[in-house]
Amino acid sequence: MRIIIMGPPGVGKGTEAELLVKHYQIPHISTGNIFRELYKDRTTVGKIAKEYISRGELVPDDITNEIVRHRLNHQDVKKGFLFDGYPRNIEQAKALDEMLAKQGTKLDAVINMTAPEELIIERISGRRVCETCGAVYHIHNKKPKQEGICDHDGTQLIQRNDDLEATVRRRLRIYKNQTAPVIGYYEKAGAIIHINGTQSIKEVDAQVMKALGETN
Ligand code: AP5
Ligand code: MG
Ligand code: ZN
Repeated sequence: MRIIIMGPPGVGKGTEAELLVKHYQIPHISTGNIFRELYKDRTTVGKIAKEYISRGELVPDDITNEIVRHRLNHQDVKKGFLFDGYPRNIEQAKALDEMLAKQGTKLDAVINMTAPEELIIERISGRRVCETCGAVYHIHNKKPKQEGICDHDGTQLIQRNDDLEATVRRRLRIYKNQTAPVIGYYEKAGAIIHINGTQSIKEVDAQVMKALGETN
């Protein structure tokens, strides 16, 4: 399976992506996660990316596309992949098309998740993440077993530094201007699946599975 999951910040892409990659046993390629890892490892690219991320802006296309190109050369993507948060503008969508054409492969599905802005703000403000393993929780909707502590490794959970409300509003604006047009791009290609992201994590997953023909 070669899948893209797209949608505004905080709609639940990463949460649904986790379920899909488990189901299909494919790598989860989140450009946001890659940038955060590169920063954690104190790389130059990571430091540059962090500047943009903290401001809620997109990391420049040349950096982002290069990272994806590199990632697509790994052996594990032969069995498929799930892109989460990439492509994020038309230029990136075109760059990805070229990369896939070179490999002689095509996308199987583009999932577009939607939710109203108030719900997004609520989800992002309640989000807590583990910097050690990347696990994502929510103070009401996806609680860790012990409050404020990661289930997997006992790390203290934190808020992402781009999750301040002013930064979130900027991310939403950039989403509308730059990322939303990508929906039309894939609509023309005929492979898009629209998913109502307002429901519970379980219900969203059921909708996605059904749309992908995985009913049982
Ligand atoms: P990225 O990390 O991709 O962030 P984002 O797109 O803004 O999306 P989020 O990760 O914030 O939200 P999500 O949709 O994954 O929601 P989640 O599942 O966590 O990118 C960060 C930054 O990196 C960008 O701003 C940019 O600077 C840079 N970047 C990344 N990719 C780039 C690219 N291609 N080009 C240029 N720059 C790039 O869920 C949110 C919360 O809600 C969680 O707490 C979760 O538990 C909860 N939740 C999820 N689903 C549900 C549900 N159904 N019901 C109730 N609660 C739910
Ligand atoms: Mg995410
Ligand atoms: Zn953890």
